[in-house]
Amino acid sequence: MTFYDPSKIEVLIDEATLQARIKELGAEITKDFQGKGDLVLVCVLKGSYLFLADLSRAIDIDLTVDFMSVSSYGDGYESSGVVRLISDLSDSVEGKHILIVEDIIDSGLTMSYLIENLKTRRPASVNVVSLLHKPEKTKATFTIDYLGFAIPDRFVIGYGLDFHNKFRNLPFIGVNLAEGLPLAEQNQ
Ligand code: IMP
Ligand code: MG
Repeated sequence: MTFYDPSKIEVLIDEATLQARIKELGAEITKDFQGKGDLVLVCVLKGSYLFLADLSRAIDIDLTVDFMSVSSYGDGYESSGVVRLISDLSDSVEGKHILIVEDIIDSGLTMSYLIENLKTRRPASVNVVSLLHKPEKTKATFTIDYLGFAIPDRFVIGYGLDFHNKFRNLPFIGVNLAEGLPLAEQNQ
């Protein structure tokens, strides 16, 4: 890919490493949910769209996918914990096993909101898979049932994650060397 300036982006997790880990997560999830009943993958838009696409194909179980979009506002650098639901699931999750598919858990406030919100809909269970986690930043307490990679507290882009809504189509996770700038309308 040549649309970006490689001198401004450091590769943190390359494409082959990402894909290999996603296959492992898929195998683990397949083993855990086999024969358990209806499984619905809830993709948290927009950042998780590529992860959902690859992870869903690595899970060898009948499943459905649905989408939610949330946004959290803060001072531009940190999530405030005030999470707004922008678009909701299209189907009921009552009695189903929910697996929330998230790109990254930073403060954890978005995920706390999602877990609490989804639990009120009487699902059979709510579990979490996140491709990335910044453990140094997470304040909220919940279990990340399946984790791709723990990463340092740096602003990452690519593989669905954006900077000013761009760079989502990079096939790897990179660090924007312009980090330090505001997160700008987090969470889209
Ligand atoms: P939290 O509520 O602070 O855990 O924020 C989670 C959301 O913030 C993620 O789903 C992302 O959309 C966004 N986010 C957090 N860190 C990054 C990052 O390093 N790059 C891009 N988006 C991020
Ligand atoms: Mg996200």
